[in-house]
Amino acid sequence: MGSDRFASLKGRAGRVLLAVSGGIAAYKAPELVRALVKGGHNVRCTLTPAAERFVSPLVLSTLCGARVRSALFDSTEEGEIDHIALADWAELVIVAPATAHLLARMAHGLADDLTTTLLLATRAPVLAVPAMNVNMWRHPATQQNLVLLRERGVRFLGPEAGELACGWEGEGRMSEPSAIAAMAGLLLTPPTLAGEVLLVTAGGTREAIDPVRAITNRSSGKMGFAIASEAARRGAQVVLVAGPTSLATPLGVRRVDVESALEMQLAVQRELVSATVVIMTAAVSDFRVAKPADRKIRKEDLPPGAGLSLELVRNPDILKQIGEEKGRRIVVGFAAESHDLVENARKKLVAKKCDIIVANDITREGSGFDVDANAVVFVWPGGGVEELPLLSKLEVAGRLLDHVEKLRDARQGGAPGTKADG
Ligand code: PMT
Repeated sequence: MGSDRFASLKGRAGRVLLAVSGGIAAYKAPELVRALVKGGHNVRCTLTPAAERFVSPLVLSTLCGARVRSALFDSTEEGEIDHIALADWAELVIVAPATAHLLARMAHGLADDLTTTLLLATRAPVLAVPAMNVNMWRHPATQQNLVLLRERGVRFLGPEAGELACGWEGEGRMSEPSAIAAMAGLLLTPPTLAGEVLLVTAGGTREAIDPVRAITNRSSGKMGFAIASEAARRGAQVVLVAGPTSLATPLGVRRVDVESALEMQLAVQRELVSATVVIMTAAVSDFRVAKPADRKIRKEDLPPGAGLSLELVRNPDILKQIGEEKGRRIVVGFAAESHDLVENARKKLVAKKCDIIVANDITREGSGFDVDANAVVFVWPGGGVEELPLLSKLEVAGRLLDHVEKLRDARQGGAPGTKADG
């Protein structure tokens, strides 16, 4: 997992309590504290008695700038924050690594040491980052504990699959400190889109000519992935229907991979039921090959020097269909234009019954397909337009979601979170 996946996920900085439990992955705790401090967080640490055997309290206290606690009944120094005050102080509690034993104690509400007492006392969100042997992870006891904890709102990151310290291969590795720090920022960000279910499409579609050839376009998926990532950061449930791309799935996003426009249409229809906001950034092919060959077309099988004609048929207009049955959903379309930007975008806004069209001038240098930036114009019903400068796709995503939130608030009289009609 590359750290650039998290580079754009700054989130809000806050008061983070890191509870380290006793597994070999505790050796990553100092790196995690550094990543959290670098992210601007105010960090305090606790160690379970077993964790003290894997990582030195002195290292952690030097990195976070506060005394590291491990005993429930400590000889409290003057001015020392007591354990309940520490539980109240935290805006986020991270348990990393979270061993099978600690998860079991959390699931069953035990409070037999400082860490489990804090976990029972805190009202802050809890992020658990499991690390253990693959068989311990897969054991029904652990899996049932996870179900219990998830039901109670504990968030999980990982474990990742790979080679484990115990010699086994499989899921059980602790997620990287950069990923945990990014997730912390995400969880501390005010959830302005909580209660909303965003359906985002991204990338180009791939229309088969034969088993090896296809018609596609230059869309990389970056614009849609940026929107999905920013929406997740704002607390939305996000499903990302993605055409072929090598981009990594943003944190907290559910991804559905598709290839063709027909597959995208099917996936969108399936997900539309629960969506409250739909954002179509995908560059959907308007045409597909009428009869893709089921075997590779060989030039040797054609008359010498002969060309090849393909019959193309129209693909469904997915956004237009959504517009027809939008109910109270907020529907956003994109328009990639090479001329008459606003005029063409406005035609699409009306034809596809969108609430906003994001028009991009794809002739502009450094903007549009397969680059990290975009220069867009928001076009609204009623004649309004807003032209943005060249911004990173993540910034465009933020500006767009600010408008989605305003629309949502205007429709609901300021009360977020009401589901769309049928
Ligand atoms: O993926 P990137 O490399 O980051 O590039 C981003 C982008 C340039 C692809 C993106 O910003 C963009 O402009 N996406 C829309 C591209 C496009 O195909 O526009 P369009 O004018 O053909 O379609 C208009 C709208 O209808 C779009 O929301 C599209 O998703 C939708 N549509 C189009 C055709 C079709 N058959 N079904 C659709 O739903």
